[in-house]
Amino acid sequence: FTAIDFDPNAFANIIKSSGAKYVVLTTKHHEGYTLWPNKQSWSWNAVDVGPARDLVGEIRDAILKVGGVHWGTYFSLFEWFNPIYLADKASRGATTNYVDQVSYPQLIDLISNYKPDVIWSDGDWEMSYNYWRSPEFLAWLYNESPVKDTVVTNDRWGNGSTCLHGGYLTCQDHYLPNQLPTRKWEDSDTIDKRGSYGYRRTITADDVLSPLEVITRLVQVISKGGNYLLNIGPDANGKIIPLFEERLRQIGSFVNAHAEAIFSSKPWIFQNDNTNSPVWYTSQLRNTTGFDPYRIYNPQQQQNTIVYAFVLSWPDDNKVNLTKVIPTSSTVVNLFGSNNQLIPLKYTQQSGGIQVDISGLSVTKFPSTDAFVLKIEYAADQNVNPVG
Ligand SMILES: *[C@@H]1O[C@H](CO)[C@@H](O)[C@H](O)[C@H]1NC(C)=O
Ligand SMILES: *[C@@H]1O[C@H](CO)[C@@H](O)[C@H](O)[C@H]1NC(C)=O
Ligand SMILES: *[C@@H]1O[C@H](CO)[C@@H](O)[C@H](O)[C@H]1NC(C)=O
Repeated sequence: FTAIDFDPNAFANIIKSSGAKYVVLTTKHHEGYTLWPNKQSWSWNAVDVGPARDLVGEIRDAILKVGGVHWGTYFSLFEWFNPIYLADKASRGATTNYVDQVSYPQLIDLISNYKPDVIWSDGDWEMSYNYWRSPEFLAWLYNESPVKDTVVTNDRWGNGSTCLHGGYLTCQDHYLPNQLPTRKWEDSDTIDKRGSYGYRRTITADDVLSPLEVITRLVQVISKGGNYLLNIGPDANGKIIPLFEERLRQIGSFVNAHAEAIFSSKPWIFQNDNTNSPVWYTSQLRNTTGFDPYRIYNPQQQQNTIVYAFVLSWPDDNKVNLTKVIPTSSTVVNLFGSNNQLIPLKYTQQSGGIQVDISGLSVTKFPSTDAFVLKIEYAADQNVNPVG
């Protein structure tokens, strides 16, 4: 591992172009090698051995410079091969030498020096949250640390914590709940279909999620109020390989063209149209006066609610069925075209909902030929509570 081709500004540029609003760097994975210099990992970090550079610091600086992307740090609490940890584990936590001498001071060092907006804790599950001193760490983090007023954390703080406690819930990798959750959550996923989060030298183009596969996952996640965290593994030379770079830029062109439907939205009263339909919904209110800013979903109010329908495949008959949208005489449907242009569409009332006619539209009008988004205004009131 030399990272001879590593260019932090190229990283930041690619991440920014993907449309991501935050990035989480793996500062230490389960093998224990750290990408920043620290006393606890003396001779086993990116300055002492390998690249001879502080990769965490360089990536952080480049991310802050490019702007508009929050900076986050992943940190593995346990280390697979650390003999001090293995001894603590064998004692079932009767000894606490590893957490006291390594992981706890390392985490304090990481937060104090690199001031992340997001802390993504992992590798916690073999020991209790008391062994990891997580209550003490989180008290320090939110009361005294340099990021106490801004930091966000996940839920992996020790056995019994995951999917229950934390700033937001990650539960297990590839988490995608069936129902609309009542808590903020995140889907941690990887671009490698074979499931690797690390770079695989033997990866092929077929192993990489297509733009439509990524957009499909993203849309399912946001329609249920989640955040989407998509992993890419850079190679040993410190490069994001061209295939990953291209994929991130392709995703970005869709995301940026639909920022209103993605970043300004919340879940709607329905998450998708019906189980066989490729249509997923988000929504926005024109006037949020009197609404809890942390509400899980937006209600359907004729004068107030804007509905976004993500359509993930082109219908053979050029007709999109939106059975959950009840029309009124003032209902308007538009399609997001290129350059943030809205293209008005005709629809007819059908089986309780509407059928939108997209015939006559040239595919070249769209930022993406794979998926498209409809904006629906002034649909009828409906009183539905999706969280029950
Ligand atoms: C984790 O917690 C569960 C429930 O409290 C307990 O049964 C289990 O033994 C714990 N596992 C570890 C590794 O501490
Ligand atoms: C927004 O809603 C509030 C409360 O219903 C109302 O008082 C206010 O006039 C509305 N604002 C606009 C710009 O319509
Ligand atoms: C839309 O609804 C019509 C009428 O019910 C049906 O014939 C058509 O197959 C539906 N289209 C899709 C894509 O489900």
